[in-house]
Amino acid sequence: MDAVSLFSGCGGLDLGFARAGFNIVWANDFDKFAVKTYKENFGEHIVHNDINEIELDSIPRHDILIGGFPCQPFSMMGNEMGFDDARGTLFFRVVEIILDQTRKGHKPPVVVLENVRTLRTHNGGRTFATIRKILTEDLGYRVFDTVLNTANYGIPQTRNRTYIVCFDNSDIEFEFPEPVPLERTLQDLLEHDVDDKYFLSERILRTVMSHGTGNFRARPEIDLRIARPLTATMAKMHRACQDNYVTQNGRVRRLTPRECARLQGFPDDFRIPVSDTQAYKQFGNAVTVDVAHKVAWQIRQALGW
Ligand SMILES: C[S@@+](CC[C@H](N)C(=O)[O-])C[C@H]1O[C@@H](n2cnc3c(N)ncnc32)[C@H](O)[C@@H]1O
Repeated sequence: MDAVSLFSGCGGLDLGFARAGFNIVWANDFDKFAVKTYKENFGEHIVHNDINEIELDSIPRHDILIGGFPCQPFSMMGNEMGFDDARGTLFFRVVEIILDQTRKGHKPPVVVLENVRTLRTHNGGRTFATIRKILTEDLGYRVFDTVLNTANYGIPQTRNRTYIVCFDNSDIEFEFPEPVPLERTLQDLLEHDVDDKYFLSERILRTVMSHGTGNFRARPEIDLRIARPLTATMAKMHRACQDNYVTQNGRVRRLTPRECARLQGFPDDFRIPVSDTQAYKQFGNAVTVDVAHKVAWQIRQALGW
């Protein structure tokens, strides 16, 4: 089955679908560093441009459209502006692409969208109700949605994300993947010979371990067995209640980009051709490969493929 991938980033969603046998024929992202990582690992089929600038005619016919549209407008950390924020309208760009394909007689039979958990509750649930209504009533899909936590699919990271799977077939039976027991901890994924630059100086250690002020006070726990959600801004090093820090050889350090890749299910032969800052951003943004793979496999089952 041919897949088109939107907002591909470094390709977490794509890798999961590719592993399940889907053939990614076209991808897109406007971040040149994400495109660099993607190209190194997947090939030249990714187009570097703003999706709003892409000619709809240049998007090839496909059997499945996948994409984690940018989540800042919906996330708890963002300012919750939702559809009033320009980025919120990227969902509507996805709709335009589906409508264009439909006009040409090749409506994608399957659409998979991923977003932050709070998409479902944002603005009293109205944002999600709008998205669902458009997908069902305007586009005619049968829509399944749920929140899946990465930690329930074999990877020690708490990462709750909304998954929306749409079929252009009202009789389809689809089930999201069943949770599996977690058999690894964050400690199992750590590298052993780590550059000194990842260890914290006394001064930084004091800052990251501080409790915070005002209404942002939280216990600064480190050495968690299940990592906190990786974030796109973790390069900035937030306090220990937001980021993941570990103790090794009696010293505290941040995670390396390779460890972040592992916490998102990327294999160790996944190449990281960008700076640490860009790598943290890309892995912080990614869909966990194992979750994507399991969702993709369930889609195959539903299609009897
Ligand atoms: C949450 S990330 C997607 C991660 C990806 N699904 C993965 O699994 O690795 C969202 C991506 O959308 C891209 N993006 C945001 N606005 C865009 C636009 N207008 N055109 C193209 N890409 C855009 C960002 O650069 C970012 O890489």
